[in-house]
Amino acid sequence: MPSLPVPSASREVDLDEAIEFIEQFYSENPDAGGRASRVARVRSSVLTTGSYQHTMAELAWGARVAWRNSARCIGRLYWNSLQIRDLRTIRDADNVAQHCRAHLQFAQNEGKIRPVVSIFAPETPGRRAPQIWNEQLIRYAAYRRSDGSVLGDPRYLAFTDNVRGMGWRPPAQPTAFDVLPLVIETPEEGPRLYGLAASDVLEVPLSHPEFRWFQELGLRWHAVPAISNMRLRMGSISYPAAPFNGWYMGTEIGARNFVDVDRYNMAGVVAERMGLDMSSEQTLWRDRAVIEVNRAVLHSFNAAGVTITDHHTESQRFLTHVAKEERAGRGCPADWSWIVPPISGALTPVFHRYYDEPAAGPQFVTDPEATALALYGRPSRHDAVYRPDSAYHPEHAYGPEPDPFAAVSRPV
Ligand code: ARG
Repeated sequence: MPSLPVPSASREVDLDEAIEFIEQFYSENPDAGGRASRVARVRSSVLTTGSYQHTMAELAWGARVAWRNSARCIGRLYWNSLQIRDLRTIRDADNVAQHCRAHLQFAQNEGKIRPVVSIFAPETPGRRAPQIWNEQLIRYAAYRRSDGSVLGDPRYLAFTDNVRGMGWRPPAQPTAFDVLPLVIETPEEGPRLYGLAASDVLEVPLSHPEFRWFQELGLRWHAVPAISNMRLRMGSISYPAAPFNGWYMGTEIGARNFVDVDRYNMAGVVAERMGLDMSSEQTLWRDRAVIEVNRAVLHSFNAAGVTITDHHTESQRFLTHVAKEERAGRGCPADWSWIVPPISGALTPVFHRYYDEPAAGPQFVTDPEATALALYGRPSRHDAVYRPDSAYHPEHAYGPEPDPFAAVSRPV
C-alpha cells in the first residue's frame, strides 16, 4: 500500500499546494465569492510569512473533503454533514484535554452519534502544535498477568506500560475495559496525562438476542470511535491534533476488536460456550462464533439506543456514495482491502468491483512517529520529537525498535 507523504514540521507552506487548495475550494463552492482577491491574499501571506490561515469556510470544507478522500472508509456517504469544532486558538494541554472531553460529549449525544472533528492549532513555520498521542480518544488498557496472559486490549500493552511509567494509576481492581488517559503533548509543556470521566465515555454492555450466557462474558465497548493520532492536511497546512469520529459499523467491534487473535481473541471462548465442535477447522466453528459476536454487537447497540450500522447496509450506502460522486464529476478513491468487510465479504456488493486510486487534496494522514506514540506511548527516539526549527524528519526519527504491528497487522 503506498504510504502518504510525511509532513515535516518546520517546512514552510508550499505555495502551489496552498493555491491549488484555494482553487479547489472555489471550484466546489462557486457561490463563496472573492476568489481572485483570496488567491492574491494567500499568495502574499505565504510569500511574506511562510504560511497563511484558512477561513472558517475553507477549514470546514477541507475537513469534510479529507473525510471524502479517506480511501479506507466505507462510511463516507455523509461526508458533507461532518460537524466542525474550530479550536485553532487552543494550544495548551489543559484546554486541549478539556475540548477532547467536550468533543466526546457532543459526539455521543445520548447515543445518537454525531460525526464531528475538533481542529486544534496548526503547525506554523518554527512553531510546533499540540499533539495527541492516543490512537483514539477512548481506548482500553492492557495488563500482563503473571502467567503471561493479557487482561484488556493487547494492542495497548506497551502504551499502558508507558503511561503507567509516566504516573497513570490503573483502578485498584483492573478490568478488561479500563479507559486509558489522554496523553497530550505540547512543545511548551511536554506530554501530560488526563483521565476521562465516566460521563465522557458512553459504553454498551454486550448481550445476545438468544444466548442468555453471552452477557456473562462481561464484554462491553465504547460508542464513539474517535481517531486522534492522524493529522489533518489541507492546502499544505498541517493540523496535528484533529480528532474525528463517525459511528461504528458492527464488524469493527464484532469481527476485529473482539476476535482478532492479537486483540480480545474471543472466538474460542464463544465457540466453547456455544458447544461447537472445535476438533477440526472444517466444522467452521470460528465462522459460526464470529457471526454470533456480531449479532451481539448489533443487538446490544440497538437495545441501548446507540447508533450503529451493519456491513450489508453500509456496503449499499457506500455504493450510493460512489455513484453520487460520479454524478458530481469526481472519482471516489477507495482501498478494496479496507472497504470489503472482515466477514461475509462476497455477500456485500462492495466486494464485486474495483475502485479508484487515492486522490490528491485534503487528507487525514498518519506517520511512523504518530503510530509509535499511539502504540508504545512514547516517542521512538526522545530527542527526535520536538525540535522546532531543526531539520526534524519524522521518517528518520523512527528508532531502531522494530514495530511489532508493522508486518502482521494493519491499523484499525
Ligand atoms: N476500527 C476502529 C475501532 O474499532 C475504528 C475506526 C473508525 N471507525 C469508524 N466507524 N469511524 O475502534
